[in-house]
Amino acid sequence: MRRSSVQEDNEDVRRYWNQEACGTARPIVGEVPELSREWFERIESYRYELEPFIHSVAQFTRHHGQRMLEIGVGAGTDHLQWARAGLDCHGVDLTERAIEVTRARLALYGLTSHLRRIDAEILPFPDQSFDLVYSWGVIHHAEHPERIIAEVRRVLKPNGLFIGMLYGRHSLVALKLWVKYGLLRGRPDRTLADVVAHHMESPGTKAYTIREVRELYAQFSQVTATPVVTPYDRLRLPAWLTQWLPARWGWFICIHAVK
Ligand SMILES: C[S@@+](CC[C@H](N)C(=O)[O-])C[C@H]1O[C@@H](n2cnc3c(N)ncnc32)[C@H](O)[C@@H]1O
Repeated sequence: MRRSSVQEDNEDVRRYWNQEACGTARPIVGEVPELSREWFERIESYRYELEPFIHSVAQFTRHHGQRMLEIGVGAGTDHLQWARAGLDCHGVDLTERAIEVTRARLALYGLTSHLRRIDAEILPFPDQSFDLVYSWGVIHHAEHPERIIAEVRRVLKPNGLFIGMLYGRHSLVALKLWVKYGLLRGRPDRTLADVVAHHMESPGTKAYTIREVRELYAQFSQVTATPVVTPYDRLRLPAWLTQWLPARWGWFICIHAVK
């Protein structure tokens, strides 16, 4: 049966992310009590210092009043922005931990969302139920990203909008992984895809070219795929070099796709 095979496929991914919700590591939160207001505020400050462009990509307040689904809420930092902006929020994640943290976070600010622990390769929502689907840094972790994208399209209303981010393969992050785990270990034959799959977060992570992103979203009527050079690309490289990096070498590919 398809449902059980999907659950087995993503079991290693679930195990990885269930150890710790994304973006909540000790160097970020320090010693403050878990799930406290200060704990969440440290997570939020750190995230938007590193990835301030999320605001211009997502434009949270612009979608006020819409019915929105977030796939892969993680620690709920962006989900909180959607709820603050007055959307009718629904969120899913593969892990119990992400759902627990996001629920606690919204409650702290008197906000609510319909949160469910599920594998997004099968979305338990009727066709055409959302104005907006958002997913930042999630779909490339799935065993079958193309199934999630087909589900996103199915649950979007006509002209509904997908906003998200996928990792870019022709990026400095991928190149640095190749130098570390390929070249310096006497394995220059390893591909960028292989080092990303084995050494970036959960097992089997994928990274795409811009053309591949366009192909993944080919069933949508309009697609923009915008690469962004991130602090993760610039890390450990001299400033004189990184200021000249072309955007197409960036680790993040930001996507807007209209159904
Ligand atoms: C890198 S974190 C990103 C979380 C959040 N979007 C953020 O930007 O901080 C990846 C998240 O995606 C979730 N995830 C991975 N595969 C998934 C799947 N097949 N269905 C639902 N969630 C998934 C993980 O559990 C994890 O919380």
